Amino acid sequence: MATATNTVSKDVPDNSKDSPVIVVEHVYKQFGSNLVLRDFNLVVNKEENVVVLGKSGSGKSVLIKCIIGLLKPDSGNIMVFGENVSELNHDDLDKIRTKIGFLFQGNALYDSMTVRENLEFPLRRHWIGYSQKQVDALVIEALENVGLAHTVNMMPEELSGGMLKRVALARTMILKPDVILYDEPTTGLDPVTAREIDNLIIKLQKKYHTSSIIITHDMHCVKNTADRVALLLDGKCYSEGKYEDFENSTDKNIKQFFE
Ligand SMILES: Nc1ncnc2c1ncn2[C@@H]1O[C@H](COP(=O)(O)OP(=O)(O)O)[C@@H](O)[C@H]1O
Ligand SMILES: [Mg+2]
Repeated sequence: MATATNTVSKDVPDNSKDSPVIVVEHVYKQFGSNLVLRDFNLVVNKEENVVVLGKSGSGKSVLIKCIIGLLKPDSGNIMVFGENVSELNHDDLDKIRTKIGFLFQGNALYDSMTVRENLEFPLRRHWIGYSQKQVDALVIEALENVGLAHTVNMMPEELSGGMLKRVALARTMILKPDVILYDEPTTGLDPVTAREIDNLIIKLQKKYHTSSIIITHDMHCVKNTADRVALLLDGKCYSEGKYEDFENSTDKNIKQFFE
């Protein structure tokens, strides 16, 4: 288990399964005097699920917002598919976002739209030129993936918290992104529903060969979904390794997540 990782190898061949799809290097981000990320480093390889574990307020959402280009780091580099996100212009950022799915913590579904319209939204926003027939097929495929095809004409207010999360996941997946960023996918859900979401994350990763960053402090979610875990502490990647390494750690900063 590596501790206080500061070096990130760039010498990995692109065509191997270990080729990085996301490389976060020496990223700093502060708001006023609040130094949130201080030399944060992380690599996510193809078809890998990396869990970023961290306490509330530690900067997990800030990190994924930097990765998707919603926030700009003060310094450091974030490479996604080999492109430096903070140097992209608006059009190129939009293009790269079609390859990155983002599951927001609060789902971010539109209350005034049906499930179908919510799912169609990313297809229309990125206007990829699908026919209505193709749009319909994609909507149904996405809903079937999460077991909710029967909700297609329902309004969000008619759905339970777990169903809303699954609809939001279906919408995140509809463009078949290569990378998915999950912001606390199980927070606020009951334990049974939370485990269903873990299982869907794994199922869809296998089906579509996606790479993911999953942000959480739910240790069951970590255990079920993580190929690798990175602990965000004091703005840095304090430690990274397998779930089992964390579970067996005697480090008090790690043990507190298991209490
Ligand atoms: N847009 C913003 N402006 C100012 N401060 C922010 C902003 N976004 C996040 N922060 C601050 O950054 C810190 C980390 O926030 P966040 O990444 O949301 O934490 P979490 O790990 O719970 O997701 C917090 O102190 C928060 O108040
Ligand atoms: Mg957050």
